[in-house]
Amino acid sequence: MPSTAVTLAGPALAALDKAGLRLPGLRQTGRMDAASRIEWPTSIISTVPHGAFIDVGAFCNLSGGTINNARFGRYCSVASGVTVGPHEHPTDWLTTSRTAYFPQVNGWDDLVAPANRGRIKAGRRPFAGSCPVTTFGPDVWIGQGAFIKAGVTIGAGAIIGARATVLRDVPPYAIVVGTPGRVLRLRFPEAVVERLLALEWWRFSIYDLFEAPFDAIETTLDVIEARVASGDVTPWQGRVVSPEDLCDGLRLAAELTPALAEAG
Ligand SMILES: CC(C)(COP(=O)(O)OP(=O)(O)OC[C@H]1O[C@@H](n2cnc3c(N)ncnc32)[C@H](O)[C@@H]1OP(=O)(O)O)[C@@H](O)C(=O)NCCC(=O)NCCS
Repeated sequence: MPSTAVTLAGPALAALDKAGLRLPGLRQTGRMDAASRIEWPTSIISTVPHGAFIDVGAFCNLSGGTINNARFGRYCSVASGVTVGPHEHPTDWLTTSRTAYFPQVNGWDDLVAPANRGRIKAGRRPFAGSCPVTTFGPDVWIGQGAFIKAGVTIGAGAIIGARATVLRDVPPYAIVVGTPGRVLRLRFPEAVVERLLALEWWRFSIYDLFEAPFDAIETTLDVIEARVASGDVTPWQGRVVSPEDLCDGLRLAAELTPALAEAG
């Protein structure tokens, strides 16, 4: 996959933070998959490794650990120490070691066997699919220290308990705990889950919905459903930022905050 160089130094990160994009997790990323996207406003403090693909919706707080090759819907929360989508190694080859399939591991092939360069290149078999994209629906909360295997899909509204090990897909609004992860219960009765999934409240800015009592789920659904039916609330459309935009963080911050730009 083509990748784009992303250089985000201190002043650009500080300016973007003020403008609604908190991105210290990208400080060391270096290159990102060119198809990556980030919707404003959002926060990525979790470390994003070199070359990763990320697609992060607005209003996320990805606060710790490492997120690799992942899609997050809006309003997701990631706690400290979480691991999302680390690379798998082959389990049924001669060796699990990257020396068998990765081009240029520490330059060892050239150092150890410079005369074999051609033979090594011709014989090296790719290990495809070592890190498929992991998908999180909107409003997913991942508790402290959870491990999420690469390639799983976690449904809208799900909660992953602290220290859980998630190896399989998780249904919407399920609470998963333990190793391996098991569904403890749904967050709400099934009829309420169906209403939430039909409404897709995350289409909107939560800041347009505060007349609903969020701690009383059925009344909240009544209020938001009525507003949607009357056409009284319009979907949120945050500026979508590309890796190319992130090559000039100061310019992007100025674009996101016209008032700051005017102030010089
Ligand atoms: C998953 C979680 C949300 C469930 O909360 P809850 O509904 O109040 O759950 P309860 O405390 O009533 O526990 C219900 C059962 O699940 C078990 N359980 C709860 N959390 C668990 C966890 N993380 N791992 C394993 N089992 C867990 C309890 O032991 C209990 O089992 P029992 O019925 O056999 O006694 C919560 O326990 C959790 O893990 N929160 C994460 C907090 C966090 O990481 N915060 C970081 C800040 S973003």
